Amino acid sequence: MDELRTERLLLRRWRPDDEPVIALINRHPDVGRHLNRPPDDTFFGLMVDHWETHGFGAWAVEYEGRFVGFAGLAYLPPFLAAAGPAPELGWRLDPEVWGLGLATEAAVAARDDAFRRGHAEIVSVIHPENTRSQRVAVKLGFRLSRQIVNPRLDIPVDVWVLEQPLLSS
Ligand SMILES: CC(C)(COP(=O)(O)OP(=O)(O)OC[C@H]1O[C@@H](n2cnc3c(N)ncnc32)[C@H](O)[C@@H]1OP(=O)(O)O)[C@@H](O)C(=O)NCCC(=O)NCCS
Repeated sequence: MDELRTERLLLRRWRPDDEPVIALINRHPDVGRHLNRPPDDTFFGLMVDHWETHGFGAWAVEYEGRFVGFAGLAYLPPFLAAAGPAPELGWRLDPEVWGLGLATEAAVAARDDAFRRGHAEIVSVIHPENTRSQRVAVKLGFRLSRQIVNPRLDIPVDVWVLEQPLLSS
């Protein structure tokens, strides 16, 4: 499946014209504050390569016809292997659209898609002071599991975990 739709959002594969927009979002000081690695120019290529290599990845998110960020699943980089081996569900939006519930809406769709694809467990690595991201994780059903050190930044980060719900019905 190449796209998902929610009440307000289109989640789709990345397009070349997303590259300059995500570069701007990544450079916004409010966005970069709590990320696991300083964003650089390889970011867009990593997103596209992940889809091509694994057949899934973070979704580009469109709101009112405009690309506003991403939500979705990706394997953790080697330096964060201690948080795995489960893939990470991540989310990142343009600050212009924060506070509208869009990150949660996108991440719920990406979470459900991850479980439909058969992933038994997903994680989210969140800076302990990133309260906005923690609230998204809680609304999705993640629980705080443990703390590890991010060796790239030499800071402690929290590992949140969510297991595939049992298909009891
Ligand atoms: C983390 C991030 C994606 C969260 O964005 P956000 O806009 O604050 O999150 P949401 O879109 O889910 O908004 C939630 C808020 O919108 C409000 N809201 C408004 N309408 C809503 C609706 N229809 N449904 C749900 N929430 C709604 C709620 O009050 C909610 O606030 P709450 O968390 O106090 O309950 C954003 O802060 C971000 O991109 N940060 C930088 C990158 C980053 O740190 N990513 C995570 C790394 S771990």
